[in-house]
Amino acid sequence: MKNIVFIASLCLLIGCDPPKDQESGCSGETGAALFEEHCAACHGEAGEGIDSLGDITEAVATLGATALMDQILEGGNGMQPIALCETDAEILVEWIQKEGL
Ligand code: HEC
Repeated sequence: MKNIVFIASLCLLIGCDPPKDQESGCSGETGAALFEEHCAACHGEAGEGIDSLGDITEAVATLGATALMDQILEGGNGMQPIALCETDAEILVEWIQKEGL
């Protein structure tokens, strides 16, 4: 019981902040969900593109993680930057490379 009072007053004193990721605007979603949400509209469910546009399967196989991060966060080749926090972008890049779109 004493512990609960102690923790409660500690929260009052320093504030019980949400975890860091929530503060920085990261979604904390899985790579699959992030791709579906932010990429599939233009690149298709598996990166195959839509109507012969936006096939990124080859680019994904040849680009490294850094280039993929840049492509997502800064855009390029006619693609607008995608509004993702860095952690989400890293999760997404790892998923893209592991799943081998
Ligand atoms: C609004 C449409 C749109 C969205 C959303 C989008 N892209 Fe793109 N993307 C493009 C276009 C257009 C190109 C360039 C033309 C092409 O490759 O067909 C491109 C190109 C790329 C390339 C190839 C770059 C190269 O060097 O050849 C990669 C990789 C890529 N996008 C990844 C992503 C990822 C990952 C996401 C999700 C975070 C995403 N894109 C979201 C439109 C989009």
